[in-house]
Amino acid sequence: MTDLFGNVHLGYVVIETDKFGDWRRFGRDAIGMHLDEALSDVMRFRLDDNECRFLLQRGPAEDVTALGWQLDDHNTFDEVVSRVSGHGVPVTERSAEEAALRGVERLVRFPGPNGLAQEIFTRARISDTPLDMQVDGGFVTGEDGLGHVAITTKKPHQMRGYYSTVFDARLSDYIDENVGGMNLKIRFLRVNERHHSVAIANVQQLKVDPIRTKAQHVNIQAATLDDMLSAYQRVRELGFTIAWSVGQHTNDRSLSFYSVTPSGFELEVGWNPVTVGPEREATWEPTTYQGISIWGHTPVGETVVTKLHQFANVMRNARHAEVSVPELTGAVR
Ligand SMILES: [Fe+2]
Repeated sequence: MTDLFGNVHLGYVVIETDKFGDWRRFGRDAIGMHLDEALSDVMRFRLDDNECRFLLQRGPAEDVTALGWQLDDHNTFDEVVSRVSGHGVPVTERSAEEAALRGVERLVRFPGPNGLAQEIFTRARISDTPLDMQVDGGFVTGEDGLGHVAITTKKPHQMRGYYSTVFDARLSDYIDENVGGMNLKIRFLRVNERHHSVAIANVQQLKVDPIRTKAQHVNIQAATLDDMLSAYQRVRELGFTIAWSVGQHTNDRSLSFYSVTPSGFELEVGWNPVTVGPEREATWEPTTYQGISIWGHTPVGETVVTKLHQFANVMRNARHAEVSVPELTGAVR
């Protein structure tokens, strides 16, 4: 069977929100991304020449609703479609209008773990509008994709199996973290040289997943340390919430901070992660790291109010069970 590893790149995320005003300030003024409001009813952010990296559509979910994966060629695209539909999972063709909103060609959608829809496409359209960003060095994308997404789950094996079955994702490593006396295992999966495009945080030990949103955080990568730190400064100055201050991760050694988006999930801005390039790929062995961070990443401004919100989220989530796609969770390779 064809190995798709290396031909898959996180292309965009789709967000459903009613907070366009807050997102405009957050995405453009605080984080420093390029804002595109040329289309009616949607808002888009760019990180590079691609027309769209974040598509914001109006609606009440306040969440990431879909991940868009760029596939290198039509063969890879056909292979993913045949794997998904071969397992009895419906793949739906999307309209030309939906593809245009995402700035992509050949768009289909199929169900993903944790209720997060997965979309694939073959080509991203390049914008002819010059980039207008507050980030001098830009963002690191290209072959490595837009960044990564972290998802909490009570079914970590199934979720890992899903990404292995569909995209031939490989396990980069594990982190064991202790949060409030509870052991949290995080699995990091790569589909190209980026150390991870998907992080899976196992919350099996909890009765319910404490994270309301389908994605716990989305990560983007600043090209320079100055750009990452100035984004941190702007997020603070503009009054947005920092969830975790600047720190360094144990596994991919990246420096980063986490801010809370207007929709409630977090946006991590990182810098300088280790990549698993061709020279490392052959000998890479997954290891287990103790703790998420070497230093920093301390919680900021945790108050009684945050605690109450957390509790409310737990109660809200308790009402519905996690949606998975059991048909696609088989082969871990
Ligand atoms: Fe992350």
